[in-house]
Amino acid sequence: MPFSLQVLFYKSLMLMTKCVMKFVPDAKPTVLSGEGASLKLAGTISQLGLKKILIVTDAMLVKLGVISPVEEALKAQGVDVIIYDGVEPDPSFTVVEAGLEMLKQHECDSVLAIGGGSSIDAAKVVALAASNNKSPRQLEGRFVAKLPALPLFAIPTTAGTGSEVTVAAVISDPQAGNKKLVLDPKLVPMAAALDPKIMVGLPPAITAATGMDALTHAVEAYLSEFATKETDAYALSATKMILDNLEAAYNDGGNLAAREAMVMASYYAGLAFTKAFVGYVHAIAHQFGAKYHTPHGFANALVLPHILEFSKDRVSGRLASLAVACGLGEASENEWALAQKFIDKVWAMNEAMGIPKTLDALQVHDIQAISEAAMHEGNYTYPVPKYMRLEECQDILRKLLPVTD
Ligand SMILES: NC(=O)c1ccc[n+]([C@@H]2O[C@H](COP(=O)([O-])OP(=O)(O)OC[C@H]3O[C@@H](n4cnc5c(N)ncnc54)[C@H](O)[C@@H]3O)[C@@H](O)[C@H]2O)c1
Ligand SMILES: [Fe+2]
Repeated sequence: MPFSLQVLFYKSLMLMTKCVMKFVPDAKPTVLSGEGASLKLAGTISQLGLKKILIVTDAMLVKLGVISPVEEALKAQGVDVIIYDGVEPDPSFTVVEAGLEMLKQHECDSVLAIGGGSSIDAAKVVALAASNNKSPRQLEGRFVAKLPALPLFAIPTTAGTGSEVTVAAVISDPQAGNKKLVLDPKLVPMAAALDPKIMVGLPPAITAATGMDALTHAVEAYLSEFATKETDAYALSATKMILDNLEAAYNDGGNLAAREAMVMASYYAGLAFTKAFVGYVHAIAHQFGAKYHTPHGFANALVLPHILEFSKDRVSGRLASLAVACGLGEASENEWALAQKFIDKVWAMNEAMGIPKTLDALQVHDIQAISEAAMHEGNYTYPVPKYMRLEECQDILRKLLPVTD
């Protein structure tokens, strides 16, 4: 089929998705923010009359002592706590099933995610599977669940995914070698605590990668064909806050003002992309995550400037607006030059935070499969501003190959 006809087909598909999205209820968590918000959330949980909560987290956070203050605060409020710490980065269905099993075994009435996107996504699916009496795999796809999730709460410990506010959960399927999406407004937590204090121990490399994930959400949502005035407002604020604060948080993890700005920015970016969706950066990054376990934010950081360069001729005005909003230039300047300033800023941020230009794990012989999977995800799921040919995706992937002597 000629490329122009394919594009017409993808655009029609996106038009249908846009119509469906109009009927999706507007779900947002109640937000507690600022230093100590994670401890205040314990009070909210007990006021709701909940008696036994499953904390879904990873072993590293337990070891670092991030969980115990919240656990103690919950117990002090009369809420019993069961901890499932089996979450791994890019959680698989097996990881989610084990969490669900623990919830059933201990008859928990609610779920609290404490962690990055991996823990929050796993907790979301545990809470939805439990109330719907389904296996996690049965929930794959859009709007599959009939009943609301068990009462669900989230404390993000990275400022990146925005999963505490989105309608999505991303679960890895190692057998299929890809990531599956559970999409449902019932996945949005009842309440979330955005606590900068909980992020002071986040290592610089993870701060950088997760922060670039948040930036990618904001930018892809801003460039999306589904963008609205509301998503634009969130995306612009998030982009500016990230450009102003991410490097400060990377250089000094204890900088609470920068941490606070980043956790808010990540939340705003989540509000933007849960409605406007993401784009090809995520479509490619998900393949790196599924195939090589490349950390999600790191993968996005590598790909983002390339997709901006590719899309520039279609979205130079939007990129110029981002540049002006972030103080990278004046509105009176040439649009094309402003757009390039924004892209150059993304390159410069990557360089300043030690994010390389190539992906060591990437193999030449994988490029065909990765590009096909990325084009499939991108074209069928995201309202991208400029459609890409398979060969164009392969050209970008070749630029990411490790340099050999
Ligand atoms: N649901 C969504 O809307 C959405 C959006 C984007 C990404 N995702 C998914 O989220 C996952 C990635 O999440 P992530 O980038 O937040 O990373 P993550 O949750 O995988 O965590 C990465 C590492 O950081 C460590 N860590 C987290 N917080 C810490 C802290 N405060 N101090 C020290 N170490 C800490 C963890 O132990 C882990 O080893 C991927 O599976 C991705 O596909 C979901
Ligand atoms: Fe992301």
